[in-house]
Amino acid sequence: MPAKIVVVGSFNMDLTAYMEKMPRPGETLHGHTFKTGPGGKGSNQAVAAARLGAEVTFIGRVGEDVFAQAALDFWKGEGINTEYVARDPANATGVAPIWVDDNGENSIVVVLGANLKITKADINKATHVIADADVVVVQLEINYDIVEYVMQVAKAKGVKTILNPAPAGTLAADVIALADYLTPNETELEVLSGRSGDYLASARSLLTRKGQTVVVTLGSQGAMWLNAEGQGTVPIFKVKAVDTTGAGDAFNGGFAVALGEGKSLEEAIRFGNAVAGLSVTKMGTAPSMPTRSEVEALLSSH
Ligand code: RIB
Repeated sequence: MPAKIVVVGSFNMDLTAYMEKMPRPGETLHGHTFKTGPGGKGSNQAVAAARLGAEVTFIGRVGEDVFAQAALDFWKGEGINTEYVARDPANATGVAPIWVDDNGENSIVVVLGANLKITKADINKATHVIADADVVVVQLEINYDIVEYVMQVAKAKGVKTILNPAPAGTLAADVIALADYLTPNETELEVLSGRSGDYLASARSLLTRKGQTVVVTLGSQGAMWLNAEGQGTVPIFKVKAVDTTGAGDAFNGGFAVALGEGKSLEEAIRFGNAVAGLSVTKMGTAPSMPTRSEVEALLSSH
């Protein structure tokens, strides 16, 4: 049975310029490649999960412009249920101008538009889909009161939640406490915990109730997990990175599917690491998400 995953989050049209090195303030540089493609942390995670064979519903909000139509066409092609994507006549679809240098590093600006207009009523329409999910995933490119509400609804229905606190932001302790799994990167961990330096101590400070796990994605150092039962680190798969944009989304999509399929925590993190590793070998965000067979091949070769 495929895992049932619900992702509540953002869609942005990514406008990505590739260049040898990032410009400094006031500098004009030549880029060598430009690509327009579907992005947004929520949508990227939904696409990653769908390509891994999960049954995916995406809940979000787009405008009534060409980017919205492109998003709907793209999701249809990926087999994602878009019944709960609201159309917003008054706000533009989100966009994200992105710079990527020749080391694969990125800088992103998000102009979230309609993403910030998701309402509790939008979520209420999808309550039965949330109740039926194995895992519900949220990130921070939508209003934080919606993030909180989604996790409350999921919790009331006994459904596991992953809160990917990206991009970095601060959340009240009672909101953090709603998440079963928290998946920050190093920067997001610092901002969320208000501490720097010792990852373990910072992650520990986020664990406020039984049943919670923090997984910190540490780039080349792998992913560190911590919960009441213990801690550990799961190494990454070494690859040649051409574009690291969306690697965190790939991890979260993969992690969600693996948890939904009943894999153990460390197996789920390893699976997420494989999805992320493969995604950085290609340009783009959602378009770079790997298929299930690519992921299985990488896992079985190590
Ligand atoms: O995580 C990568 C994503 O961040 C991009 O697709 C961009 O749209 C921003 O949301």
